Amino acid sequence: MHTIVLATQKGGSGKSTLAIGLALAAKQAGFTVRLIETDPQGTLSNWQRRRNNDDLVVEPIYHAADIEPRLKMLADSGLQLAIVDTAAGLSAATTAAIRHSDLCLIPARPSVADIEATVSTLSVARAWKRPYSFVLNQTPIRGQRIDNAANTLAEEAALDLVEVLARPLIVMRNDHQDSLASGLAVSEFAPNGKSADEIRGLWRWIETRLELEATTNDLIDQVISAADGMVHAATELAADETLAS
Ligand SMILES: Nc1ncnc2c1ncn2[C@@H]1O[C@H](COP(=O)(O)OP(=O)(O)O)[C@@H](O)[C@H]1O
Ligand SMILES: [Mg+2]
Repeated sequence: MHTIVLATQKGGSGKSTLAIGLALAAKQAGFTVRLIETDPQGTLSNWQRRRNNDDLVVEPIYHAADIEPRLKMLADSGLQLAIVDTAAGLSAATTAAIRHSDLCLIPARPSVADIEATVSTLSVARAWKRPYSFVLNQTPIRGQRIDNAANTLAEEAALDLVEVLARPLIVMRNDHQDSLASGLAVSEFAPNGKSADEIRGLWRWIETRLELEATTNDLIDQVISAADGMVHAATELAADETLAS
């Protein structure tokens, strides 16, 4: 199971909107998906109630200690993707979710306040050695403001922009707000619109990133187990030689 967490201290940056949009995009791409709500404000639960359709389960988990065991149960049950929406600020639940994630997505509008608010989330992801990416959300269609924001984020992470900034950028459009209001995801509300296109594109970018991480982790596991095997063989050889002498 892949676990994605949407987190940043700043409210209104688009955590819940992106969680819902990505959940439906992933579902339409063939994944089994569950939305996990750790924000007591209940944006996802309220959206679910408006939806009148239980095809996408929203599961509230508000206590930090419940997050790891519940994610493990969902993984054991064969679920393919858990998307965790978190509250503004940096709660114990958010930290626990980041700690057990495969990818931490940090949304930011192209504004100084939003970018500054990513710092604490970034440090939690780094402390637990979790992969992360920024998602620039509610951007104008084009302009210097976006380039400045993207460059500041790359500087903050001290990493190459290609690696750290998810693509495409998500433009500010009414479809996102209207879909949320009607209990739909943007790819259901206006499937042929530009916003739906961007969210599907963002999901594809995330999928590639998750696969890369999984392959890297597999390779690391293989190298570690090969090294373990060699150490074991060498130890046995040394023991045999001691016996023989
Ligand atoms: N790309 C976007 N275009 C237009 N409105 C957006 C976009 N992303 C989010 N919004 C709107 O901004 C507001 C805050 O988004 P929300 O997802 O609730 O943020 P958060 O969960 O980070 O507090 C909501 O009204 C939402 O509909
Ligand atoms: Mg929210």
